[in-house]
Amino acid sequence: MKDFPATFLWGGAIAANQSEGAYNVDGKGLSIQDVTPKGFMGPITEEPTPDNMKLVGIDFYHRYKEDIKLLAEMGFKAFRISIAWSRIFPNGDELEPNELGLQFYDKVFDECEKYGIEPIVTISHYETPLHLSKTYDGWLNRKLIDFYIRYVKTLFTRYKDKVKYWLTFNEINSILYEPFCSGGIYTDKDKLTKQDLYQAIHHEFVASAMAVKLGREMMPNAKIGCMILAVPIYSLSPKPDDVIATMQKQREIMFFADVHARGEYPGYMKRYFKEQNIQIKMEPEDKEILTHTVDFISLSYYMSLCETADTNKKANSKGNILGGIANPYLRANEWGWQIDPQGLRYILNELYDRYRLPLFIVENGVGARDILVEDDEGNKTVIDDYRIEYLKDHLIQVGEAIEDGVEVIGYTAWGCIDIVSASTAELRKRYGFIYVDRHDDGTGTLERYKKKSFYWYKGVIESNGRTLGNEM
Ligand code: BG6
Repeated sequence: MKDFPATFLWGGAIAANQSEGAYNVDGKGLSIQDVTPKGFMGPITEEPTPDNMKLVGIDFYHRYKEDIKLLAEMGFKAFRISIAWSRIFPNGDELEPNELGLQFYDKVFDECEKYGIEPIVTISHYETPLHLSKTYDGWLNRKLIDFYIRYVKTLFTRYKDKVKYWLTFNEINSILYEPFCSGGIYTDKDKLTKQDLYQAIHHEFVASAMAVKLGREMMPNAKIGCMILAVPIYSLSPKPDDVIATMQKQREIMFFADVHARGEYPGYMKRYFKEQNIQIKMEPEDKEILTHTVDFISLSYYMSLCETADTNKKANSKGNILGGIANPYLRANEWGWQIDPQGLRYILNELYDRYRLPLFIVENGVGARDILVEDDEGNKTVIDDYRIEYLKDHLIQVGEAIEDGVEVIGYTAWGCIDIVSASTAELRKRYGFIYVDRHDDGTGTLERYKKKSFYWYKGVIESNGRTLGNEM
């Protein structure tokens, strides 16, 4: 197996709204997730409803010590979490933060430190305070920049000695497809124009660059990155029309990394705006603000897609956010997401060739239905060879990319402990190395059990990736 760097940040990732629960505890305000019981694919409710699995999550809020201990047992070097914005600013537009909310993350970071685990913190992971969404229409409103920066400044002030790695927005490009979940935009998706969407995106770009600037001033040793939902797009055929359509589709994603890494809007977007008659309203200072570019690029990777210029060809491959044309050479998981380990090597190379910035894979994994069984000693476990196979195949490709010369600084497997899924808010769709006894009907003891993959990943980390490919 190829050598991973000695400093490689092996670990796992979760998000506050999918794990913490305690949705109304210690002064937390409501977030947009508290009113979407069926995930972002479902309807928005007026009030939180008991069928919303995220209200309890996996009760990470009360069980973080036990959970971090288990992650430490696997040898985690890094743990990616997000901070629930509405724990810190319950409505989002207050002037003073909620002290109890801040204390919770102090305790989480201290627990990580105890085991030498580096926290990787997403500042905004689909958790816009509901009040900002309903009253201001989320990121459509430029005022969100001020609220976000107040929140960011509060986090940097409080945690500057505890957190080195920060991500400004989870999968920032997802706002194009899921404006409510990703951008807190309350207006119905169908009523939004392209002008609206790109204006909201501009606000997020400015906010993200301001966070980078502020972070550099306040924490000289910190590393601040953007986070992109990375999907490699393949041409369905060698037809030049298809190749150009593919380039355009790939740019829909790369645009977000371009602005963050190069500090300005790319030419192809200026052309697109002109042709679509989109006029982004910019303040005089925005141009300079955008020049504060990121230290690294982080990405989620789950699948690749194909593209064609043939408008008769309908999208037939599903993803959690981004669907498209299926690749006839790939198989899919139970939720229709096509599995393509080599796509990860490909996109890592593409991103590195383009930006020459360190890359951090902060999400990757496969959702599956697990079956809890008893092992020979009578311990409950899951024999999840399918998960081991998926992760192993992807990590081998990460090794290949590193061998290609790509600077990959870490890998945090998504949902390292079972959590509520984002797109459908299900618990039966599990990603973890640790099984959580909680089910979609709300039953379960919340007990944690180690799956087979727990021991496998422990071995991978222990050997710094050398055992990959040797065992199953
Ligand atoms: C990513 C999100 O899009 O995909 C996560 O950043 C999410 O929050 C992950 O959980 C997997 O999607 P799902 O719908 O299977 O949970």
